[in-house]
Amino acid sequence: MTHQHFLDLSDAGTDAIAAMIGDAIDRKAERKGWGKGQPDADAPLAGKVLALVFEKNSTRTRVSFDIAMRQLGGSVLILDNASSQLGRGETIADTARVLSRMVDAIMLRTDDHAKIEEMARHATVPVINGLTDRSHPCQIMADLLTVIEHGKPLPGLEIAWFGDGNNVLHSILEAAGLMKFNVQVATPAGYEPDSEFVEMARAGGAEVTLTQDAAVAARGADVLVTDTWISMGQADADEKRRAMEPFQVNASLMVEAKPDALFLHCLPAHVGEEVSEDVFEGSQSVVFDEAENRIHAQKSVLLWSFGLLA
Ligand code: CP
Ligand code: NVA
Repeated sequence: MTHQHFLDLSDAGTDAIAAMIGDAIDRKAERKGWGKGQPDADAPLAGKVLALVFEKNSTRTRVSFDIAMRQLGGSVLILDNASSQLGRGETIADTARVLSRMVDAIMLRTDDHAKIEEMARHATVPVINGLTDRSHPCQIMADLLTVIEHGKPLPGLEIAWFGDGNNVLHSILEAAGLMKFNVQVATPAGYEPDSEFVEMARAGGAEVTLTQDAAVAARGADVLVTDTWISMGQADADEKRRAMEPFQVNASLMVEAKPDALFLHCLPAHVGEEVSEDVFEGSQSVVFDEAENRIHAQKSVLLWSFGLLA
């Protein structure tokens, strides 16, 4: 069995991402109505163990990888910073080599992206990015699946982002270049995404608009996306919150978008901050489909990492 790291979407590329989404749609349809922990008929990862390593909090990533592995016939174990030797300074390199002798794959959620690159360099099993300060590729696999499931093919799609230019936006931009959709980004001055990701999207053929006017970004959009104004590990500064206020996704912003536009949020949400309650709870919001799709999308990421998908 070959192994492939999934540190960012470009590790897989356009064709593999399309294959993963197709596989996720098929597997999800095949197990409709089954118990959530019941293995898929082919149980392709029977006997395999995935280590979930958390240096930051998580609800969805933790549960969705666990359930994904159960549905693929495998199992997980969970380590966190506080109770493992990572919290006492054992190196990433040694942790990678030890875990590689004991488990079949590693998912890491951490702060500095260099740490997951270090893990991947020293691991002899697949390493999957469960969020870093730089990117959140597993989230975007679920987002792409959700958008497609709701009848919006990716090529030419207009996706609009509001608020902080953060890790989730970086992975959306990376996906845009690979899957040929366009991104309208509205952030306050000083909170733009890293230019590396904007350039990556444009180099792949995506149109990227950067604006400080939320209404401009929303105009004609097929999908509106936002995220917390203060990500894990960031300082909770009043100045940043004030700068973000004009970027709330609310009813007056939604009317600028296409009438059938979708609202996405990776969650956890801060209703009343980055999104108003009426939008979050409204008929265009697909945030809980998006959360469930973490399971289905990550099953395909796991299969790809184990060399079992195109
Ligand atoms: N969206 C997401 O990654 O959620 P968690 O932080 O709960 O894992
Ligand atoms: N941008 C958020 C995403 C949480 C899933 C964070 O990094 O905290």
